[in-house]
Amino acid sequence: DAPTPQWRPALHFSPTEHWMNDPNGPFLLDGTYHLFYQYNPAGTVWGPMSWGHATSTDLLHWHEQGVAIPSTPAEDIFSGAMVYDGSNRSGLGSASAPPLLAFHTSVFHGNPAHPDGTQAQSLSYSLDRGAHWQSYAHNPILTLQPDSRQFRDPSVVWYPQGQCWLMTTVVADAQLVKLYRSTDLLHWSFLSDFQPSGYRKPGMLWEMPLLVPLPLDGNPHDTRWVMIVSVNPWSIAGGSGVQYFVGRFDGTRFIPDALPPEGADPSAYDWLDHGADQYAPIRFANTGTRPPLLIAWMNNWDYADTLPTAPWRGQMTLPVQLALKTVDGRPALVQAPAPQYDDLVRRQGIAAFADRDVGPGQTWRAPLGGPVLDIRVTLRRGDAAHAGIVVRQTPDGRTGTVISYDFLSGNLTLDRSRSGQVGFSPRFSLAHIAHLPTPGGTVSLHLVIDRNSVELFANGGALRMTDLVFPPPGSDGVSLFSDGGHTRFTEIRISAPAR
Ligand code: FRU
Repeated sequence: DAPTPQWRPALHFSPTEHWMNDPNGPFLLDGTYHLFYQYNPAGTVWGPMSWGHATSTDLLHWHEQGVAIPSTPAEDIFSGAMVYDGSNRSGLGSASAPPLLAFHTSVFHGNPAHPDGTQAQSLSYSLDRGAHWQSYAHNPILTLQPDSRQFRDPSVVWYPQGQCWLMTTVVADAQLVKLYRSTDLLHWSFLSDFQPSGYRKPGMLWEMPLLVPLPLDGNPHDTRWVMIVSVNPWSIAGGSGVQYFVGRFDGTRFIPDALPPEGADPSAYDWLDHGADQYAPIRFANTGTRPPLLIAWMNNWDYADTLPTAPWRGQMTLPVQLALKTVDGRPALVQAPAPQYDDLVRRQGIAAFADRDVGPGQTWRAPLGGPVLDIRVTLRRGDAAHAGIVVRQTPDGRTGTVISYDFLSGNLTLDRSRSGQVGFSPRFSLAHIAHLPTPGGTVSLHLVIDRNSVELFANGGALRMTDLVFPPPGSDGVSLFSDGGHTRFTEIRISAPAR
């Protein structure tokens, strides 16, 4: 396929060539961020899986470091997470060379000890701060009895009250999260299963479980636990997506807060993203006391292997910071781009525009455009039925991605039906809708536009929508519109963090 530089993300990681899916084992050490990822170094569709490796000092510009943990004919290396074992509790390193431990799933082939396709949890470690990796001699460290082909995606979190680490894994096709504990990171004992009677469907897979403790409304004496689970298919925007549960951890079990009644509509549950293109988020390890930092695959299993990019397929979302805040009387995850992103935007300069009233059927075209933009704008309710913004717009106005808010229903829509190339898969969903309450009649939109994506953080990050788009060259315009009446647009700020 002809190369598509026009769709090469400027501020999101994508491999120079070949296929990538989930982010794996990200961590921070000595001021460098490390990112690993499910990688097929031999093709542009999913295949034998290795861990690729990239590094960055600002989370926005990445340098590929080659394959860190390669697949072999006997073993695929599936997703997993990292622990920096700074005090060498595992004994795999030394005080002067503390080990990095990469927990991942092994998929065994032709191994007399495991039926073909068995999945179990394994360990690779590095004694030189992530440059070289070796396989632990006693792998796998965790198996399921009887053997399972669906037991995967370990992630590990420190539990201070219990002075131990907790591991979450899934039995994907049973929509089941399994919890384990360990004090040496090598021996794991079973704690409990989490299988809520929440939003589940036949054939749905649960993948990449992530347990994150967070203070509610910044109160250090009120820690809640959030279980984040990637689900595929049947997610809120179709295909794969990310659900979460807020609850408590009692030392053994994760107990979710009250859930909607069985059979409730998916919109009754909590979703990390209401767009189609966020999957498999994972937390950076070793970031100290800073808020949890997450990065995800910006894609959807519904059409990932048909994306029109070349010579690569797959890219990551922007890293985001997580907080838990009371929204509409309930604890909810609130997300914002990592502070490094805001720093870059500030350094590149921000153009501020005067407040303006847009009347029925009118548009205001911003005098500033480009394929990579940061846009912030607040909509104040007038007498319009709906109003919004078009981004990645062609000069003739025929092509563009439309974000519009309906003041009557309170629904926010991201419409990519005329965003450019959309026909590469019948499953490339065209519009995504989420309910967004408007306290005081205002909606704030923060848009991060890259060459082939639109990431929307609405009302301070209480609602997130992530969508890939494939616009034609020259789709650099931005315009505001209002239909059926007037809308006042305030706090209009536009920046071009890259060209
Ligand atoms: C999620 C996933 C994981 C698995 C990996 C394989 O996208 O299916 O469950 O470990 O991808 O590449």
